[in-house]
Amino acid sequence: MKKNIAVLAGDGIGPEVIREALKVTKAIEKKFGHEFSYTEAITGACAIDEVGDPYPESTHAICMNADAVLFGAIGHPKFDNDPTAKVRPEQGLLRMRKQLGLYANIRPVETFDSLLHKSPLKKELVEGANFMCIRELTGGIYFGEKGRKDDGNTAFDNCVYTREEVERILKLGYEYAMKRNKKLTIVDKANVLETSRLWRQIGQEMAPKYPEVDTQFMFVDNAAMQIIQWPKNFDVMVTENMFGDILTDEASVITGSMGLLPSASIGIHTSVFEPIHGSYPQAAGKNIANPVATILSAAMMFEYAFGLMPEGALIRKAVAASLEENVVTEDISKEHAKSTSQVGDWIAQFIEKA
Ligand code: IPM
Ligand code: MN
Repeated sequence: MKKNIAVLAGDGIGPEVIREALKVTKAIEKKFGHEFSYTEAITGACAIDEVGDPYPESTHAICMNADAVLFGAIGHPKFDNDPTAKVRPEQGLLRMRKQLGLYANIRPVETFDSLLHKSPLKKELVEGANFMCIRELTGGIYFGEKGRKDDGNTAFDNCVYTREEVERILKLGYEYAMKRNKKLTIVDKANVLETSRLWRQIGQEMAPKYPEVDTQFMFVDNAAMQIIQWPKNFDVMVTENMFGDILTDEASVITGSMGLLPSASIGIHTSVFEPIHGSYPQAAGKNIANPVATILSAAMMFEYAFGLMPEGALIRKAVAASLEENVVTEDISKEHAKSTSQVGDWIAQFIEKA
């Protein structure tokens, strides 16, 4: 199969973890006889430094022309500590999501048996936990009108959702629930927010169309608690943009390390595959970051964007083997830590030899 992959490494540890993911995609390419071309493009703080724009038009054109985008991370501390900065790296990510129409962010939360001891939760609570968070990604408070009132001392961020936006994300939630264990948890704050009441109303209208699916409505504060108390109770969870941002960070740590979880952002144009962790600037350039989340994002790219299931499965098998053999970075094992590139090499070689 011929595919054109846009590679947006971004900032911080982005380039290091992307380098390892590319070793893996190249190993797959060779093994299965595919032909991939890779087109690199700039984004994030490094793009601001280069051209003054965190998601330049040239980068967008490369993404639009690609079959999939592999994305590293963006962000830089010099912007985090400067609330007055006019241009921010994160604006690049948000514009990319909006311009590519990536309305759904899919974050599978899966545990690895060999890492259960790393979870902050008791083994019996996490063993076998496996659920999928679907986060709405192009609406809500992230994209509503925002600003300051005249005196500069009053600020606002509007949260807006339309019926169309809610319907398409809930539909996706139901589709995944049908493919999985037929349980959908719709997370909102309908006791307080009008947007949440619209979500709940539309959810109630749609539920009878999916009689096989057990639909549950849950307030976000309760969901935050249940994720750590009974993670095994969830199958598919769907929620709005900001609740999803917060809940997926929470969900990610129950697996033992945030460095393990991939994500797929899908929608209207080219899909984007990226680790859920950020740019981790303290580790940048040190060859210590965990490349597994990005490598698993590449696995999702094969499965979701190219429909290449055996390729995705082989990557997952290689990752599971690396964890079992304790070929891991320092976030997983301080005593036996391997470098980012050693872990990537090991996984790529496993695929070559398979
Ligand atoms: C994420 C990140 C982004 C978000 C930031 C970097 C804008 O935290 O992808 O979860 O909040 O969506
Ligand atoms: Mn986040």
